Amino acid sequence: MQRDEALLREYYAAAPADISLSDIDLERVPSHVSIIMDGNGRWAQARGLDRSKGHVAGVDALRETVTTSVRLGLDALSVYAFSTENWRRPQREVDLLMHLFATTLVKELPLFHQENVRLRFLGDLEALPKKTYDVFQRGLDETSGHTGMIFALAVNYGSRAEIARACRQIADEVATGIIDASAIDEQVVAEHLYTTGMPDPELLIRTSGELRLSNYLLWQLAYTEFYVTDMMWPDFNRWEFLRAVRAFQSRNRRFGGVVAS
Ligand code: IPE
Ligand code: IPE
Ligand code: MG
Repeated sequence: MQRDEALLREYYAAAPADISLSDIDLERVPSHVSIIMDGNGRWAQARGLDRSKGHVAGVDALRETVTTSVRLGLDALSVYAFSTENWRRPQREVDLLMHLFATTLVKELPLFHQENVRLRFLGDLEALPKKTYDVFQRGLDETSGHTGMIFALAVNYGSRAEIARACRQIADEVATGIIDASAIDEQVVAEHLYTTGMPDPELLIRTSGELRLSNYLLWQLAYTEFYVTDMMWPDFNRWEFLRAVRAFQSRNRRFGGVVAS
């Protein structure tokens, strides 16, 4: 994706001592970065606040991350906002999150217009409260003509549910003769996932130090590089993003082969 280098340099001007824009190769920025935004609750609890305050603070970190991604020239940014397992949380927290998704999306639509960002959702939206569902549909409609970065928000997303859904759809297509069972290959499976048409993430970032996937993009992350930071999500910022890209660029991606030394 096109980037404005002068704007990017200005954006990254006041660098902390350990990182600067010149530490990364702008020609090798990952095209799709995915983030498990974790640690909102602990961030709030450490400050003696209600967990909900952590989710609210997390919105600011997400806004900065979208801007950073656009300025770095990513083709796609995807983020895990609510898992199929997160319904197990107290009803009050679930309600707050659903409300926050709806109000935030309405508030941030001008940013998506300004930055030419196209919105996508990963997950089963049918199960969402009507207001949240309606706002999401509006976001999809209003940004469908945008040609810039894809911003994919995973809400009511679970990777196992996604794969089971793909299996059902493919089985239906076999039963009705649309495709032959022998034609089911990796590409056919990928085309039935929520991420259809998107490249797999090259870099996965998880905040709050947890070393697990929590049912996120199990298929799509097959060869993705991982970067885990102890930072809680509300503290995540453009500098930590750069540290993640720097770590990514230092990796030797072999994809099962060997690299000539
Ligand atoms: C991530 O923060 C946000 C969601 C899962 C919605 P958490 O709410 O999981 O925060 P911790 O992990 O409890 O600190
Ligand atoms: C993963 O975080 C889901 C999201 C970030 C939306 P969780 O906080 O739900 O994951 P676990 O429970 O620690 O595995
Ligand atoms: Mg968590």
